[in-house]
Amino acid sequence: MRQSLAFSARGYQIAPVATGDARLPGLLTACHGYFTLHYGDDARNGTIDALVALPTHKSSHDRMLLGVTAPSGELVGLIVLVQNWNRARQWCLRSMIIDPAHRGQGLGSAIYSALADQAKRTGAASILIGVLAANSAAHRFWLACGFTEVGREVRTDLTSDLIHLEHRFCQIQLKTVLPPGRVLGRQIALTSASLAADHRSQAPLRWLTAP
Ligand SMILES: CC(C)(COP(=O)(O)OP(=O)(O)OC[C@H]1O[C@@H](n2cnc3c(N)ncnc32)[C@H](O)[C@@H]1OP(=O)(O)O)[C@@H](O)C(=O)NCCC(=O)NCCS
Repeated sequence: MRQSLAFSARGYQIAPVATGDARLPGLLTACHGYFTLHYGDDARNGTIDALVALPTHKSSHDRMLLGVTAPSGELVGLIVLVQNWNRARQWCLRSMIIDPAHRGQGLGSAIYSALADQAKRTGAASILIGVLAANSAAHRFWLACGFTEVGREVRTDLTSDLIHLEHRFCQIQLKTVLPPGRVLGRQIALTSASLAADHRSQAPLRWLTAP
């Protein structure tokens, strides 16, 4: 990957991790439920290769494997990211897995929020993810993170089809916010300044046209 990412969320460090890291097998074993949901009991179950595999049109040069390390030093999560997925500035979040013992406490939301901030800072326009249709909990999680559905894909190599979701970042940078009620002839005032940086908001921009 051209850019190296390292950041923190809630005191957990998110940074590149090697596929040979001695802590990986324990984490993969703890996450067996995720693998079984995706691959059933086939040979990919529990392997790091299943997580980092890429389609033939993508090069490993664009891929990054990040580990989530707890303050104790324990590896509690993995993230696989690929830049320039279908087009420039589109990132693909191939996998994000957290150890079951650390789920449901807001860690995933905090990590994704920090990751989206990093992506925006490094020039990404959007993040794409494919979630297994059978993985309804993760589907809800991504929708709550700001993703919207952009397509579905039949996948006979997985246990169910994939739902493609994308989180598009608003590119508008507002320098001036006009006071409410100000009349500006036929000028148009943009009224929703907070949309510029809020990655969760997918609401349409609100425009006011002066009389
Ligand atoms: C999806 C995942 C990364 C979310 O991380 P997390 O730390 O559990 O997320 P949070 O604690 O921030 O929870 C956010 C929401 O997701 C829900 N959620 C999703 N999957 C969950 C799970 N397996 N266990 C507990 N809660 C889950 C929570 O209920 C919570 O909803 P709420 O805020 O309405 O209560 C994590 O649950 C996980 O690793 N799941 C298994 C792997 C997976 O499916 N990855 C996604 C592949 S597309």
